[in-house]
Amino acid sequence: MVNVIGLGYIGLPTALMFATSGVKVIGVDYNKDLVASLQAGKLTFEEEGLDELFASAVANGIEFTTQYTKSDTYIVAVPTPYVKESKKIDPCYVVSAVNSVLDICEKGSIICIESTISPGTIDKFVRPIIEERGFVIGQDVHLVHTPERIIPGNMIYELEHNSRTIGCDDKEVGQKIKELYSSFCKADMIITDIRSAEMSKVVENTFRDINIAFANELAKICRQDNMDVYEIIKTANMHPRVNILQPGPGVGGHCISVDPWFLVGDYPALTNLIWEARKINDSMPEFVLGRIREIMKKHNINDVSKVGLYGLTYKENVDDTRESPTLQLLEAMDEHLAFGIKSYDPFVKEPIVDGQYGDFDKFIDDVEIVVLMVGHSHIKENMDKLQGKLILDTRNICSLKGTYKL
Ligand SMILES: NC(=O)c1ccc[n+]([C@@H]2O[C@H](COP(=O)([O-])OP(=O)(O)OC[C@H]3O[C@@H](n4cnc5c(N)ncnc54)[C@H](O)[C@@H]3O)[C@@H](O)[C@H]2O)c1
Repeated sequence: MVNVIGLGYIGLPTALMFATSGVKVIGVDYNKDLVASLQAGKLTFEEEGLDELFASAVANGIEFTTQYTKSDTYIVAVPTPYVKESKKIDPCYVVSAVNSVLDICEKGSIICIESTISPGTIDKFVRPIIEERGFVIGQDVHLVHTPERIIPGNMIYELEHNSRTIGCDDKEVGQKIKELYSSFCKADMIITDIRSAEMSKVVENTFRDINIAFANELAKICRQDNMDVYEIIKTANMHPRVNILQPGPGVGGHCISVDPWFLVGDYPALTNLIWEARKINDSMPEFVLGRIREIMKKHNINDVSKVGLYGLTYKENVDDTRESPTLQLLEAMDEHLAFGIKSYDPFVKEPIVDGQYGDFDKFIDDVEIVVLMVGHSHIKENMDKLQGKLILDTRNICSLKGTYKL
């Protein structure tokens, strides 16, 4: 039996995949409302194919509870934010979850940390609390790190097809966990030590952050001298060993905009490139703001309420708004005391910011400039409704004549 602890964007689909594959699963979250919703058969976020997976996991007997339950294996998928001042990981959720497992676990249990953690987190924060409580690691409990790589929007496919890293102290325990994950994962799984698993996950997201920062810096250079950054990247990528990602309005979400900070926090003297990349990506919402200002000036628009931001989430076709570039842009506007900008997102039904619309057509009617911040399929299917508007396209998805780009 498996206890999946933390039923958010990562824990819930993972728990459902295990259950659908025939593993007995208890999903645990300390958020009572979230658990009540799942118990009532209502999903807590939108994701392609999640409804069907949920139905099949429920048919296979998955249970949801706020109580940690005795199991052979505990999979911890709780948040791992960074501390804004020090940039270091804040391990409090992981530590608290592990403490709760220790309250109930039986001898020989395996604790797998799935959350993304900075290299050394298990040594620095997890082992000491286990030892302080009198458990012998390797006998009373075993530790494993199984970082997750899936991308929201394509989670279910990727859970089955992405390769995985399993970091462990003891290869036999690692092998057991490999067998457990192979109930649904059909890809390669590498068994390594815990610190290498911690580091490789953080490195993967840092690599992407740096590559995006490079594309964003190119966008700024090309803007200055009126070159087409998309055409240039497309051409450069025809080189067999060049693969530049796309520029955009910034980087958000709980991964790429967070994990590189762990390295900056722990290795400040050695992370010039990583730090610069973070700064470049964090500067993009302000850059978009500058583009909006230019367009307003050019078209003699003085009233910011004539501007509408399409998209509040951090990426297309998901409902996750954490660290989203649009929210960063709105924050920057607040700092400049510029209020009244409008926004709309088909995935964000509850109002989370001032000026947010619930109706797309009304939103479009009420603005003169539409800023495409997110490339949801919804806008691609409704692009013709933007005819006659001034458009700033930060995602290179609009081919209407006269569209402004980044
Ligand atoms: N979201 C992604 O795209 C993604 C991708 C790969 C890896 N990750 C990593 O996975 C981890 C989880 O991220 P997420 O996006 O699923 O977070 P989330 O905020 O969506 O979900 C975390 C859940 O854990 C619960 N929780 C927190 N502390 C708890 C505790 N002590 N006991 C029980 N429940 C507790 C919260 O109530 C919440 O429901 C993070 O380390 C993240 O970096 C996320």
